[in-house]
Amino acid sequence: MCGIVGYTGKDKCIPKIISGLESLEYRGYDSAGIAYIINGEIEIKKEQGRIANLKESIKLNEDSYTGIGHTRWATHGKPCKVNSHPHHVGKITLVHNGIVENYESLKAELKEYKFVSETDSEVVAALIDKLYSEEKDMLKVLVKLKDTLVGSYALGILVEGEDKIYAIRKDSPLIIGVSEDGNFIASDVPAILEYTNMYYLILNDEFAELTKDDIVIYDRDGNVSTKNLLTFEGSQEAAMKNGYEHFMLKEIYEQPKVIMDTIKEYIYNLDNLNEKMSGLEKYDEIDIVGCGSAYHVGLVGKSLITKYGKKRVNVDIASEYRYTEHVYSKNNLIILISQSGETADTLAVLRQAKEEGIDTLAIVNVVGSSIAREADRVLYIKAGVEVAVATTKAYICQLMMLSLIALYLGLKNNVLDESIVEEYENIDALIEEILSDTKDTEEIANSIYQNKDVFYLGRKVDYALSMEASLKLKEVSYLHSEAYAAGELKHGTISLIEEGTPVISIITDDDIRLKTLSNVKEVCARGAKSYIITNEEVLDKDLYTKVIMIPKLHDLVGSVLVMVKCQLIAYYVAKLNGCDIDKPRNLAKSVTVE
Ligand code: G6P
Repeated sequence: MCGIVGYTGKDKCIPKIISGLESLEYRGYDSAGIAYIINGEIEIKKEQGRIANLKESIKLNEDSYTGIGHTRWATHGKPCKVNSHPHHVGKITLVHNGIVENYESLKAELKEYKFVSETDSEVVAALIDKLYSEEKDMLKVLVKLKDTLVGSYALGILVEGEDKIYAIRKDSPLIIGVSEDGNFIASDVPAILEYTNMYYLILNDEFAELTKDDIVIYDRDGNVSTKNLLTFEGSQEAAMKNGYEHFMLKEIYEQPKVIMDTIKEYIYNLDNLNEKMSGLEKYDEIDIVGCGSAYHVGLVGKSLITKYGKKRVNVDIASEYRYTEHVYSKNNLIILISQSGETADTLAVLRQAKEEGIDTLAIVNVVGSSIAREADRVLYIKAGVEVAVATTKAYICQLMMLSLIALYLGLKNNVLDESIVEEYENIDALIEEILSDTKDTEEIANSIYQNKDVFYLGRKVDYALSMEASLKLKEVSYLHSEAYAAGELKHGTISLIEEGTPVISIITDDDIRLKTLSNVKEVCARGAKSYIITNEEVLDKDLYTKVIMIPKLHDLVGSVLVMVKCQLIAYYVAKLNGCDIDKPRNLAKSVTVE
């Protein structure tokens, strides 16, 4: 995910582009750049890191009235100056948000060009330059372009010698802002709100030509199209949340998409899975290390990799692991899980492992982060930028990545057969279904939000999920919550159960269903309010305060549905308690200290 902005008008463009980029920083922030026209020439400035770095390195009051800018979330190639946008090829300078899937074949065809970056976007710039040299007319080029590019793109384009911005989109967002002093392009409304709240929404395959005092929008065939001018009523922050009350809720609702993005990246087909995971079968022992939710993902991963991959797996919290003695096997792998890729304890484990000569594999969301850079191997999840401190969509994508590793190993050793891949095809629709009706989770939230303590129970994977569900609840709602292995409760903690104590039990594992249900009955007998999240009808329904049903899926993928329900419970409890949901007290998104 990246953000693009452009402005052409009577005012100086650089301050407007920079402030637009700042409000799009939630879309990515590993590098930023700007291209602007000054005395008829195009100047380009780029910096690695946050937009603040770019802002420091340029003169804001340059005499320039037309320009484009970009804030990057690396997809192709590491975050560095040369890979950052704008890209310049021949007469074309452009910024791009999206992923062009056929860029490698296009690159091979564009032999006359010399490419300096690793990006798909530079290839698009070369393609446009080539088409422009043939057609000599950008409108004809843009009609042709959409027939050649496969993938997603929102492009802002400057052409040498023209004081205009061209823009086109497919499957990446694009709006055109209209103000008295000039016209904007942007990935999202917040980028223009400081100057105007009026905009056109550009749809797939449409494109536009912006001058200082005119905007012409064209349909896919190049005919001028008339559009309604829309007005955004609301604040900039509200705009970034895309209509959701909190980033956490927005991110929960993004899960069907990001989980599919992650799955498709790795099982586009089985060859692609084999290529991405190749060699993992050689390890006989795997240590999985992470902090917080990443550690909880590891616990689910342990269960799946042991069951299907037939490997010995250990899981530990990074802050413990780094200070513990370890005996490694000859073929030992350490998997480091970290959304941010910057967590200090996880990074320390990685560095120790490297010193000891143990192979490392990182599962990371932020491209080019320290852990991603330093590990021997990286498997990126595709969660996009996560703003809410409490992770939701990154956790779900990490879970899926561990499932994909178990799938790969299970196929390699014939514990699983290829038809299993179908299990991954429909998950987005099933999550959508859960998200389309949240009455049951809101009902549970209503019934527990005034309690002081909430317990989660489960066995095996359901216990690992309980730990994450409990963490989610306590971090955003400030209710005290504990997760317990259902069979362990009676060895102490059951003394805390009294009349009305909420106990939420997760029961999805057939092998152990009846055992967990017996433990649930033990808490019911002591007056607990008992809630069950399960994938199979339960008898004695009257015993329980509420039973939430989820579809029954293969255990390689079923956990995600449980977690979406638990995330919603945590969210609604926090909301009822008036908590600062996106920035809970005392917490930080990325913990770069020990
Ligand atoms: C912090 C966050 C958690 C996160 C943990 C690990 O504590 O609040 O949500 O799970 O760090 O972060 P990482 O970026 O390494 O996944």
